[in-house]
This record gives sequence, structure tokens and C-alpha cells, in this order.
Amino acid sequence: MTAPHVPVLLKEVLDVLAPADGEVFVDGTFGAGGYSRAILEAANCTVWAIDRDPAVAPLADRLHRAFPGRFHFLSGCYGEMEALLAAAGVERVDGIVLDIGVSSMQLDTAERGFSFQAEGPLDMRMGSEGPMAADVVNTATAEDLADILYKYGEERQSRRIARAIVAVRADRPFSRTGELARVVEKAVGRKPGKAVHPATRTFQALRIYINDELGELERGLAAAERLLRPGGRLCVVSFHSLEDRIVKTFLRERSGDAEGVSRHLPAVASARAPSFRQVGRKAIRPGADEIAVNPRARSARLRAAVRTDAPAWGIGGAA
Ligand SMILES: C[S@@+](CC[C@H](N)C(=O)[O-])C[C@H]1O[C@@H](n2cnc3c(N)ncnc32)[C@H](O)[C@@H]1O
Repeated sequence: MTAPHVPVLLKEVLDVLAPADGEVFVDGTFGAGGYSRAILEAANCTVWAIDRDPAVAPLADRLHRAFPGRFHFLSGCYGEMEALLAAAGVERVDGIVLDIGVSSMQLDTAERGFSFQAEGPLDMRMGSEGPMAADVVNTATAEDLADILYKYGEERQSRRIARAIVAVRADRPFSRTGELARVVEKAVGRKPGKAVHPATRTFQALRIYINDELGELERGLAAAERLLRPGGRLCVVSFHSLEDRIVKTFLRERSGDAEGVSRHLPAVASARAPSFRQVGRKAIRPGADEIAVNPRARSARLRAAVRTDAPAWGIGGAA
């Protein structure tokens, strides 16, 4: 049994969601249920939780038992939350929280293949469908591999790593996390004194790519805009700059604050009424106290907003 996931920025998320009796919430990334439990304990409200990982089922069962009639679990992707909720008869909600990325249970279970520090199959799927990381590593062209590592891992040595992978797999396909981590380390070398493992960005890129994590985030934000009733609260916790940029751009555009997105572009007044009001212009970061007890909180950023009564902009943004 792996250590349970410790919820990140929990107090800050609850402060924004401010659950009240009778309200309805969506926890789009259930994980170990830390947010769901805290919301249910804060008020006599209802939580619809979603997760694409079938391994969370026993944790969801626990909440079913603890909060009968108030907790509901939907298996699937939060990018499809509208369809999942509609099938359950839910059309509007008062709050939505997304805590994106992997859980501690996923990272710490070697057989899931998320960690280069543990020997396991090169899988990395959060759900149980679709191609594994090994399929991509063994079949993509060197050019496509390099693009994936650059785009989703911001890996500057993407071409060098891709060439090394293609050279090694010509002899034997990759199947284990350790093999890939060693090939990356050999290709780029390990800088003395650098704490970060050289395969960190490669593993991040493959994980984001095979789970379509950025596409999920874009679809999830657009769905949240349509599902939240006026006054509804949205909280998104992200763990790296690619995700945070998507959330930041979305909320700045939708709150009529788009000129903040780039200092290099002229400010264009949007003809549309803002569909969100941002809670603070800056992301909320964990304090030193939280990082001391939970080092995985280090890179977390919370962005939050309140839904206005303006119509949803839909996908496509300010254009
Ligand atoms: C960081 S954990 C969430 C932890 C949770 N807030 C808690 O307190 O226990 C992220 C969870 O979201 C799930 N997840 C990630 N992307 C998802 C998606 N697009 N749709 C549904 N679940 C997703 C993962 O499987 C994982 O269980």
C-alpha cells in the first residue's frame, strides 16, 4: 500500500469554494478524495467526483459510506464532465475544483510506470485505455519524439535524446522505466551538483502526451464555464508552467484582463462581457509551512475565479 495523497493548498481551495448547505460541487480529479471529503465536511452539500483512474474506486467507496446520498463518483475524464454529469441529471453546479497531474499513489506505484526512480513497465496511463508510453517510445519517428519532448517537457536537448532512443530501440524495444531513464541520462549526461534527474522532463513529456493532459485541461475549463451558475466558483491547482499558462490565459481572457497575457501585444478591448471575475490576479502558492510537511506541494499554483452571469464564451476565446 502506498502512502495516501496529501491534498495540496486545501485551505486555500476551501476558502474560495466556500461550500454552503444545499450547494452542488464537482471534484474533477478525485485522487484520494482529500478535496471531496473536505468539501463534504464543510457543509451539508453534494459532491460529484470524477477520476479517470479505476484504481481510486476503493477510496470513492469509503466516501460513499461516510456521506450517503451526498457523494457520487463518476468514472471518466473531467474534460467530458458535462456529458458525465448530464447523464446523471446534473446541469448546473456551484463550484468546480481541478487538481491536475498525478497523485502520490500513481507516482509511488512502480507498476504504473510514472517514475524514473522506480523500476516498472513503461506505461504511464492514468486510465486503462489507449497507448502506453512504451508504444510511443518504440514507434514514433525521431522527429515526432523530439517534438513531444520539446513541447510537453520543454526539454532543450530533445533532439539528442530522441536520436539516442531511436538508436537503442533498433536493437531492442523499450519496456521498462529504468532502461529509458538510463538512455536519457547517458545521452545528456548528469551535471554535477544538479538535484534534478536528467530524465525528469522526458518522463513528464511522455506522461502529458499519452494522457492528453493539456487537451483535457482546455476542455475542462470550457466545460466549467458552461456548467457553473452565476456566482459559482472555479479552482484550478496545477504543477507546471505549461498547465498554469493555459489556466492563466483562459481566466485573464474571460475576465476581460487579456492585456495582462502579453506585454508585447497591444491591448484589445474584448467586445464580450466577462464570464469570470478572477480571485486575485496572481496565482496562490503554498507557504513554507505546507512545503515543509509536503515537499510535493512545492510547485503547486492555485488560480481561482467566480462565474459572472454573462453567457459562456465557448471554445475559441477572445477571437
Ligand atoms: C493530484 S491528484 C488529485 C488529488 C486530490 N485532489 C486529493 O486531494 O486526493 C490527480 C488525480 O486526477 C486524476 N486525473 C488527472 N487527469 C484527469 C482527467 N483528465 N480526468 C479525470 N481524472 C484525471 C488522476 O488520475 C489523479 O487521481
